[in-house]
Amino acid sequence: MDTVYLNGSYLPHAEARLHPDDRGFIFGDGLYEVTPFYRGTPFRMPAHMARMRKGFCELRIQPPAVDLGELQHELIRRNGLEGEEMAIVYLQVTRGTAPRTHTFPDPDVPPTVYAWARSFRRPAPEAWEQGYGAIRVPDRRWARADLKTVQLLPNVMAQQEAKEAGAADALFVRDGLALEGGQTNLFVVSGGTLLTHPASNQILHGISRSAVLEVAEELGLPVEIRPIPDADLSFASEIFFTGTTAEVRPTVWLDGKPVGDGKVGPVARQLYAGFQEKVARECGLHAGV
Ligand SMILES: Cc1ncc(COP(=O)(O)O)c(C=O)c1O
Repeated sequence: MDTVYLNGSYLPHAEARLHPDDRGFIFGDGLYEVTPFYRGTPFRMPAHMARMRKGFCELRIQPPAVDLGELQHELIRRNGLEGEEMAIVYLQVTRGTAPRTHTFPDPDVPPTVYAWARSFRRPAPEAWEQGYGAIRVPDRRWARADLKTVQLLPNVMAQQEAKEAGAADALFVRDGLALEGGQTNLFVVSGGTLLTHPASNQILHGISRSAVLEVAEELGLPVEIRPIPDADLSFASEIFFTGTTAEVRPTVWLDGKPVGDGKVGPVARQLYAGFQEKVARECGLHAGV
């Protein structure tokens, strides 16, 4: 993470300075995206940028004048990450710096734009084969979980709890429904059908979730996009989570109890293979990823 981008400049990470009155710092008044690059090519950049634009619109944050896609490519180049199997670019835009008032700055101020890139190590195949754990946590987030805001305290607390339990994912449960992970979307296989929560205000509309749903459709798997009662998870044959860095992460235990037979299941396996093929095709990786 040598060279970062901050408000129009590329500079060494150690030299990047933010104003203390930045509304991201004061209010968590901002949005972020994490876009994966595979051997220097982004996977679904337009979808990541469309999600961020929707956030600007809904939160009435002035879109930055800079080309956000181009700056991400530039960070990959400047950090010499083009040849990496996988790298990620973190991009954050806040409403800008102004004296503290709850209402928007008046007059307008330019948004703050900060981004960095670093290489990302996917789990070793043996670790993936072992599977991962998950724990349930109450969902205490606000009612716009579909917006990728930097206000992640409930997610931070949930993922820390998961880590302390030796789990990879914290599963948010609200009103008896299993919604999504602290940084991932939830998929469940039950009675041979693949289930995932609808793209409502209660979950982030994951780019990986969409790609996995496309793979499921291409494979002709039965899919139902509907709310998943938490109580049904004990009957699930498979549970897995999807996300930009998790890709497809199989859950072999939930709150200490085995999921299905306690092994990584065939649907997660098939969908992960299909997801990797999609990445390879769309990112022009001919030798696999
Ligand atoms: C709460 C939450 N759900 C789902 C996801 C997965 O989204 P994506 O596949 O676009 O990375 C994320 C990613 O950060 C997330 O924070």
